[in-house]
Amino acid sequence: MPRLFTAIEVPKEIGMMLSGLRGGIHGARWITPENYHLTLRFIGDIDERTANEVAGVLDFVERPSFSLTLTGLDQFGGKKPRALFASVQPSPVLIELQAEQERMMQRIGLPPEGRRFTPHVTLARLRDASVIEVADYLATRGGFRPVTFPVSRFVLYSSRASQGGGPYIVEADYPLRGRARLESRYANAI
Ligand code: 2AM
Repeated sequence: MPRLFTAIEVPKEIGMMLSGLRGGIHGARWITPENYHLTLRFIGDIDERTANEVAGVLDFVERPSFSLTLTGLDQFGGKKPRALFASVQPSPVLIELQAEQERMMQRIGLPPEGRRFTPHVTLARLRDASVIEVADYLATRGGFRPVTFPVSRFVLYSSRASQGGGPYIVEADYPLRGRARLESRYANAI
């Protein structure tokens, strides 16, 4: 049974830059740079027939390419930090792309995603990490100049059934309309 999700890939050069942020928190499981991504719609473990339906309905997405901006670092979990991530500017075009996929998944019978969409790129999963250590990390490394890169497609990823974590495999890719005009701007960003 494939475990699927839709996502935006992180370009290699941006991934290299983000990978410079690895290290410095005990209990962190750092994501390998080739697995960085922005999840749009987590679909989960589904049967082959539904997987084909998901892949097919996504063909109907007709949306423009756009640029995506990483604005800094943050954590999920509050006093029990569970993930460290690069926050993503929630631009209208990104929000609309995500919302359309949510509607599509519900239309083909999948349960609604209960969580509010908080666009992010996970950098590390944390277990038993010290809240003080994470706060220190964010204070010293969390502020960087915003980094922008073009997005001209999204993908349907699979991961190992029922396990999550990388490596992720691109099962299908979906071009966005037009060419993203903006080139990556990342030099000296961190
Ligand atoms: P994360 O980056 O915030 O951990 C593949 O597992 C992707 O789907 C991950 O990026 C993960 O988001 C997200 N994901 C995993 N399990 C999920 C769940 N139960 N609900 C929503 N998203 C999930």
